[in-house]
This record gives sequence, C-alpha cells and structure tokens, in this order.
Amino acid sequence: MAILKIARMGHPILRAVAAPIDDPTAPEIAVLAEDMIDTMHDASGTGLAAPQIHMPMRMVIFTVYPERDRSEGGEGTGVPLTVLINPEIEPLSDEKELGWEGCLSIPGMMGEVPRFTHIRYWAYDLDGQRFEQEATGFHARVVQHECDHLDGILYPYRIEDMSRFGFSEELTRRGPQTRSDENLGEDQ
Ligand code: NI
Repeated sequence: MAILKIARMGHPILRAVAAPIDDPTAPEIAVLAEDMIDTMHDASGTGLAAPQIHMPMRMVIFTVYPERDRSEGGEGTGVPLTVLINPEIEPLSDEKELGWEGCLSIPGMMGEVPRFTHIRYWAYDLDGQRFEQEATGFHARVVQHECDHLDGILYPYRIEDMSRFGFSEELTRRGPQTRSDENLGEDQ
C-alpha cells in the first residue's frame, strides 16, 4: 500500500493525454489501482485519475456515496468503488445539468460545471473484462470528471460562469444561492 503525491493544477502531466493500458490484468496495474485507492481514501476524495498521481495511463477510480447520489437526482443506492481501465463515454441525451465539483488537484476550490445528465460508459476491469454501464446524476458527473483527466481536461476549463468558481470555504459560507454544505467539497 502506498499513498502517492497528487499533482496540482499547473503541473504539465495534468494537461497531457494519457496512454491506453495494453494489459489491464498486468500485476503492476493491480498495484497502481491499490495505490490509487489508498491515495483517494487518504485525501477523502470520491474519484481519482492515474495522471493525478503522475501516471499518464487511462485508468480512473471512483465511488458514489449514497447520500450524494440521492441529493443529485440518482437512485440513492450509490456506486461501490469502481476501477475503469481505458474508459469510453457516450452521452445518451443532449441534456446537461450544472453541479458543484471539486478536484484533488485543485485543493480548496470548487466550481459549477455543466455535465451530461445521462451517459453510457464502457471500460475494462482489473480482470480484463469489458463492461458497460449507464449512469445518471452524480454517478454520470463523476465519471465525466475523471475521464476528462485522461484527456488533460480539468473542471475549471468547462465552467461557463466564472463567478461560480472559488474557494470552497467562501462559497459554502455564502448562503442559499449555492446549495447546502453537504453537497460541496467532495473532491474528485
Ligand atoms: Ni479531478
């Protein structure tokens, strides 16, 4: 087990397009997944992409906590810790929704980001099995956020109203125009 250093916005690795993983079952990929899980838990995040720990490979991990799922239009069941290798996303409708996001590579900040509300994604798991999943609500949001990291995209690049970007501490103190505190500050 290892807790790895997380790259912060400004580091060139976060701008790079990550390379596909040739063999999802390789032992070093399993070790990388374990290290990413340890690092994400240590940082109290809800998602992490390999480039964030200086590994330019197409792998992300995420989880959706049931409370957050419920508060953002999901079914409330949450999603257990999931590893996606070489993921691909297809939007299933043109509809987008604004929601607050944070990122472990941009500590202390948050912003309101438009994301597709309904997607399908494909990925390989650590056993090399390709699987397919539909997602809505926060589940769809976190997958889009994490997969953006694989293409060198950070959430602030997608913010349309920059007045809705700032320090979490300030935004959550400012009252009802921002949503309740429990929705905020979940870093990805
Ligand atoms: Ni992030």
